[in-house]
Amino acid sequence: MTNEELTGLLQALPLRQLHDLTRGRVHRHFRLGKRRLIEVILSLPPESRSLLEVDVLKPKRQSPHQPSLENSPQPFVAKPTQKKGRGKAKLSASLEPPITVSELLDGLGVPTAQPFHADPWQIEAISKLATNDVIASVPTGSGKTYVAIEATRRALEQDQTVIYTSPLKALSNTKYMEFSQLFGADRVGILTGDRKDNAQAPLLIMTTEILRNLLYDAASGQIDVRLNTLGLVILDESQYLADPERGVVWEETIIFCPSQARLLLLSASIGNPQDLSSWLTSIRAVPCHLIHHQNRSVPLRAGYLHPDGVMVPFFRTRDITKGRGFTFHPETKRLLAQYEGETLGHRNRR
Ligand SMILES: Nc1ncnc2c1ncn2[C@@H]1O[C@H](COP(=O)(O)OP(=O)(O)OP(=O)(O)O)[C@@H](O)[C@H]1O
Ligand SMILES: [Mg+2]
Repeated sequence: MTNEELTGLLQALPLRQLHDLTRGRVHRHFRLGKRRLIEVILSLPPESRSLLEVDVLKPKRQSPHQPSLENSPQPFVAKPTQKKGRGKAKLSASLEPPITVSELLDGLGVPTAQPFHADPWQIEAISKLATNDVIASVPTGSGKTYVAIEATRRALEQDQTVIYTSPLKALSNTKYMEFSQLFGADRVGILTGDRKDNAQAPLLIMTTEILRNLLYDAASGQIDVRLNTLGLVILDESQYLADPERGVVWEETIIFCPSQARLLLLSASIGNPQDLSSWLTSIRAVPCHLIHHQNRSVPLRAGYLHPDGVMVPFFRTRDITKGRGFTFHPETKRLLAQYEGETLGHRNRR
């Protein structure tokens, strides 16, 4: 496209749309008026300019202020990866036109309220806990807390003690508040390195280290009465099992966990859940039931923020729903190469 042709097209656009077009391509574009903005666009490097031309020629899309993710247009979502189909997903992604930053952000907002229906995997996890230990290895934002809450509710109804552990004091504090609201403050206690409140409550929130120490004491004969009625142990963020320093704490907690209690392991990022499930089955009194899927209820969008403040979509496609088969956005590749060139050059000069 010649400079004259592009200038004509750009002049016909409202200023707001020009800002949308230049977001992520022109630094501090929002400070520029229409004439200056068009001049800057015309002087863009050839690759950025040709991508921008594609966007200028694209038909105008739905308003970017759609409140609901469900209602927002999603023309660039990658095709689901088929069996042995990584190549296929890459191919389809490479044929898709690249997206702009405004498309990356399109549709963000608070979804409209809808009646709650538990997902099938959540129902399965709760029901399997009656007879099995359970590992729920599902993506972040899938609703693992719901499983923890419902399993806790059932255990408390049967007068069992429940222990919920997390690797962080801050997360334990948050869960303490959340569970106190749900089950009543008198039924919930907390034990961390910093806090000890209502330690005889039937539902105890603690860091995994505290539970491990409790189980150590029990193994050496100092039986804590709460362990006699222990019905459920929830290990949230259980990918810490693979942590080189702290993983041993999770391992020992699982090994020493009383056989009458059911274990519920929750995580979004266990690399080998099948191996973990087999190990649990081999050392525990009941088999372990594994629930594992990679479908994101909340699609992930990734952007690349260049050190000079320019943001570009990370991938050509907008939503990451499975986590595989995506190709880099060409502009991100270019900026990444530029950044690497600059920093490596800088290092070499030193
Ligand atoms: N079946 C469901 N339908 C719709 N929303 C749900 C459902 N289950 C849970 N949610 C909502 O999903 C959001 C995320 O849930 P939650 O915090 O439990 O995710 P998570 O799996 O624990 O994620 P993370 O790995 O980040 O800890 C919450 O707002 C929760 O209310
Ligand atoms: Mg969670």
